[in-house]
Amino acid sequence: MKVDNFRFQLGNKEYVPIIIGGMGVNISTTELAISAEKLGGIGHISDAEVCYVCDSIFSTSYTTRKRKKYSYNVNNIDKSDLYFDLEEVAEAQKKYVEHTMSQKSGNGAIFMNCMEKLTMRNSSDTLRTRLCAAMDAGIDGLTLAAGLNLRTLDLMKDHPRFHDVKIGIIISSLRALTIFLKRAVKLERLPDYIIVEGPLAGGHLGFGPDDWQAYDLQTIVSDVLNFVKQEELNIPVIAAGGIFTGTDATEFLKTGVAAVQVATRFTISREAGLPSAVKQHYINAEKQDIVINTVSPTGYPMRMLKQSPTLRYSMKPNCEGLGYLLDNHGKCGYIDAYYKALETKEEGKHLEITGQTCLCTGMAKYDCWTCGDTTYRLKDTTNRLDDGTWQLPSAEDIFKDYQFSTDHAIAKPERVS
Ligand SMILES: Cc1cc2nc3c(=O)[nH]c(=O)nc-3n(C[C@H](O)[C@H](O)[C@H](O)COP(=O)(O)O)c2cc1C
Repeated sequence: MKVDNFRFQLGNKEYVPIIIGGMGVNISTTELAISAEKLGGIGHISDAEVCYVCDSIFSTSYTTRKRKKYSYNVNNIDKSDLYFDLEEVAEAQKKYVEHTMSQKSGNGAIFMNCMEKLTMRNSSDTLRTRLCAAMDAGIDGLTLAAGLNLRTLDLMKDHPRFHDVKIGIIISSLRALTIFLKRAVKLERLPDYIIVEGPLAGGHLGFGPDDWQAYDLQTIVSDVLNFVKQEELNIPVIAAGGIFTGTDATEFLKTGVAAVQVATRFTISREAGLPSAVKQHYINAEKQDIVINTVSPTGYPMRMLKQSPTLRYSMKPNCEGLGYLLDNHGKCGYIDAYYKALETKEEGKHLEITGQTCLCTGMAKYDCWTCGDTTYRLKDTTNRLDDGTWQLPSAEDIFKDYQFSTDHAIAKPERVS
């Protein structure tokens, strides 16, 4: 048995049951998502820091304009003035989604990962704007992430595509799912798919830094499968987190999940957005380099390589240009940590900020090396070249390895000299 023996039925369409998860900021690029779509699977783009991402892809100037507009505020601890221009957010989102959708050439689909925790100083209006603009631009599906998303469906419900766009929710416990479903039932809009993300995933986690080892994906998946069956919900369940080989994926498909969502193996693909040198760090990582910490101002634990430059940041908060994590009062944990460190800084000593990082900057500059628990195994998936560096596989190499491999074998890419 291999993954290719299964198909993922979603609405009236069938896909290869492999979904590349959303990886912000622009790690799951258009190119990466399109490579899954071309092969009949599903690829995600992410709308994390979408104005900044547009600036780097299309040379627009959203970030510079925002920074200029609020330049008077850079030395102010109070960031409550810093609103995003909603028209610009919509414009950037449409540009990015249209750019991606226009490149579809296969039988797969392109979804967008939308994180609720990206509060952007005005959580409801900015999230509504992002969701609606993505639907306007023709996205196939929206995966609601990083948060309980209790009000998210309400924000989309007046859009003409509310019932036609595919909507999925990422949860890490049955409890979170049942809370989300209460509102979904009231709105008569159940999700089209449920992604169960276990404790081995990358990015932000629904588990604590000290208790994640007490949980496992299989158990949560089986709780959710039982619940869905018992309630006769007929919603496909997708497993995510730590699925490293085609055989791992097949094992899950055999238990009744409809598809798997994978990410870590694709971080080192040529199509992923991380700079090549960072991809080499990922491949060289050892188990002890992979940590879960609470430096993210979102309040969620995050898994990353301990060598991540963002862990040594001491820069002034960068909210005038970025500010994606400002809450509805203009607050962010990094601003407090920075000004507290300034107050206690001793003359002549380096400014040391502990406990928090400027994640907006860290993610934008690829300085926060977030990764899945299995990252230390990436060296088993590719070839070491004569100069000591690692060959970067194509997304197609990795996708096909998941699709066709058996017996936990991993097909390395054809060696380049
Ligand atoms: C580098 C990286 C960045 C990620 N960023 C996000 C994100 O922005 N939003 C999100 O919902 N999940 C994010 N994830 C989680 C993935 O979408 C996916 O569900 C999970 O990592 C799958 O497990 P695996 O990495 O073990 O295959 C990220 C994962 C990685 C590895």
